[in-house]
Amino acid sequence: MATRQESTNKQMETEKPSIVLEPATNNTSCYQHWFLERDDDHIAWLACDKKEASTNVLSAAVLEELDNILGELEQTLPKAVVIYSRKKKGFIAGADINEFLNLGGQKEATAMIQRGQRIFDRLEALKCPTIALIHGFCLGGGMELALACRYRIADDDAGTKLGLPEVKLGIHPGFGGTVRLPPLVGAPAAMDMMLSGRALSARAAKKIGVIDYAVPSRQLRFAAKEVALTPPKVKKACGWKAWTNNRLVRPLLATYLEKQVAKKATKEHYPAPYAMIGIWKKYFDDRESMLVEEAASVSRLVLGSTAQSLIRVFFLQEAVKSLGRVKNYTPQHVHVIGGGVMGGDIAAWCALRGLTVTIQDKNRESLARVMKRANGLFKKKLKQPRLMQAALDRLMPDIEGYGIAKADVVVEAIFENVEAKQTLFKELEPRMRKDALLATNTSSIPLQILSEALANPTRLVGLHFFNPVAQMQLIEIVSSEITDKNVAQRAAAFARKIDRLPVPVTSTHGFLVNRVLMPYLMEAVILEAEGVPADTIDKAALKFGMPMGPIHLADTVGLDICLSVAKNLSEQFGGEIPKRLTDLVEAGQLGVKTGKGFYEYKKGKPQKTATENANVPADLTDRLLFRLLNECVSCLHEKVVADADLLDTGVIFGTGFAPFRGGPVNYIKSNGVAKMKAKQIALYEKYGDRFNLSPGWDALDR
Ligand code: NAI
Repeated sequence: MATRQESTNKQMETEKPSIVLEPATNNTSCYQHWFLERDDDHIAWLACDKKEASTNVLSAAVLEELDNILGELEQTLPKAVVIYSRKKKGFIAGADINEFLNLGGQKEATAMIQRGQRIFDRLEALKCPTIALIHGFCLGGGMELALACRYRIADDDAGTKLGLPEVKLGIHPGFGGTVRLPPLVGAPAAMDMMLSGRALSARAAKKIGVIDYAVPSRQLRFAAKEVALTPPKVKKACGWKAWTNNRLVRPLLATYLEKQVAKKATKEHYPAPYAMIGIWKKYFDDRESMLVEEAASVSRLVLGSTAQSLIRVFFLQEAVKSLGRVKNYTPQHVHVIGGGVMGGDIAAWCALRGLTVTIQDKNRESLARVMKRANGLFKKKLKQPRLMQAALDRLMPDIEGYGIAKADVVVEAIFENVEAKQTLFKELEPRMRKDALLATNTSSIPLQILSEALANPTRLVGLHFFNPVAQMQLIEIVSSEITDKNVAQRAAAFARKIDRLPVPVTSTHGFLVNRVLMPYLMEAVILEAEGVPADTIDKAALKFGMPMGPIHLADTVGLDICLSVAKNLSEQFGGEIPKRLTDLVEAGQLGVKTGKGFYEYKKGKPQKTATENANVPADLTDRLLFRLLNECVSCLHEKVVADADLLDTGVIFGTGFAPFRGGPVNYIKSNGVAKMKAKQIALYEKYGDRFNLSPGWDALDR
């Protein structure tokens, strides 16, 4: 009997080879980044394969070559052109973001964008059918290239992702995307795609009309050939969808869209979505002007501080992702101990990301709750019953801990109690594989203390997840002086495996995120106790760009948890705990979970406090902010993280610190270190010790 692998191989032999691996024939023109091949049916197969790169991006060199190839095709027009990618990872990831970093000025930026527009116009104007044949990701400029083709065919595999994520970088599509998408799918779907930056599956893209066909991988080439030889009618939005782009409808729809955007991002902080809506509203009927305005707008935005900060954040993310690259380490099975708030959600998240998971708790009801919550998560994220069932099958309740002996990774998430954790580690270690990773999710206990219980204390590492696990991208990878470096690296690789961002921190109190967050929250509590309405404090933080105000955040985390972390940190670093916080906890007002904290909650929503005649200090925002910034400077000085970039990454992804400001250190530097230090000193002189200048400020200038 043939094995499954053998029969798959056989099947491959009889079917068309994958588009990724298509061999070149003699009739091939070789460029650096493209391969052009003409077959016997006079179809030109044009493959993008950026030299010495694992991913295709549209760098200046890649675009220039495409321009030349289009010239060649115009000279000897084929029956059709099929554009595809030879990279395993996907079609084209977008423009080369590196080229956005050192732009000389507006003129250079406009020229760069107009060059892309001109090349895609040339592609669109080819006098033969053009087909984008898409597998994997097709994003940004890659999607715009596909939109310039007459037809789009995509692999219906789960790995296919089509999107225009430019808003996430503080810009909007610039190579004609804003011009081509609305007529293709209608304004609502086009705007949703461009304003959210969300990537679509092939099926979703087919449904709204972004692509013409979604077919299985093995039929991609066949489908492209069919379309090339017998081209169907070119699709575009019709009926009510076309009507949404009408001159009379646009102003109304634009107002609605602006209102929707305003719920998530202000124009002051994130100008790109507003600019894009404005261009569509004003210029949609005049394609030439719309292209000119698209280029002018993107070149203005890309040089602005929001885009430059968001581009910086993109590179910060890429840098920490690379920390998780460890050769020959592919964890498959994770065993989680403790099925409470954190352990349960960690287990569910790991199963969602494809790992086999055993979840252990001494309490059966906890395990039942874990399965119920996991079911909710899978339903929300996976939608299809078949995928949900597969994820549930990967998550196994394991009250006896049978999974311990087999697991590649064991994550401990039981009560925050030294004795309980040490007792558990003593029992665990002899049952675990020698090469398995042992991680704790402790939020405050130094690893040095916990590892005393182990025969091999160098194997313990912290994987500090944040609550809610499914939303918080960061994991602090905590090492003590004795943690084995390979263990910490594997912990970072594990974090990547489950699609989280690993930031290495030292095992000092509060690690990075809780340590910088707590002074900021405590200042908010002090302000509230002084009589400043909670709502006013929260609004000031939102205006600065935080995703949630500090008072609302404290209520959400739970005031009892805030109090316990604050006590722990004040024992180490000094500082008083506001009496108002202790009073609320003693009164049982713990925040959202008890329905009352600083705010009262109705259906989970905070009821706003009255703000008339309130005493609002002029330095309200500075007081909140400088408590956080000063603590960041201390963490850098004490080397809690290795450098300023890691600090910015940790604080942005762990606290939500306004991403368009590029992180706290970037924010200090872009405002001028001397000026910011002087503000810190002024706050110290006015309010005393809690604004004590960190010794790290001077080093920031170097
Ligand atoms: P929790 O109290 O919700 O859950 C703890 C669970 O562990 C309970 O279900 C309990 O039955 C189980 N358990 C206790 N001892 C056990 C043992 N020996 N064997 C098996 N199961 C045992 O606690 P939570 O909030 O999930 O916290 C867990 C850990 O995560 C703590 O170390 C905490 O500091 C840390 N953490 C908590 C965060 C939060 O927001 N709650 C955030 C980040 C870290």
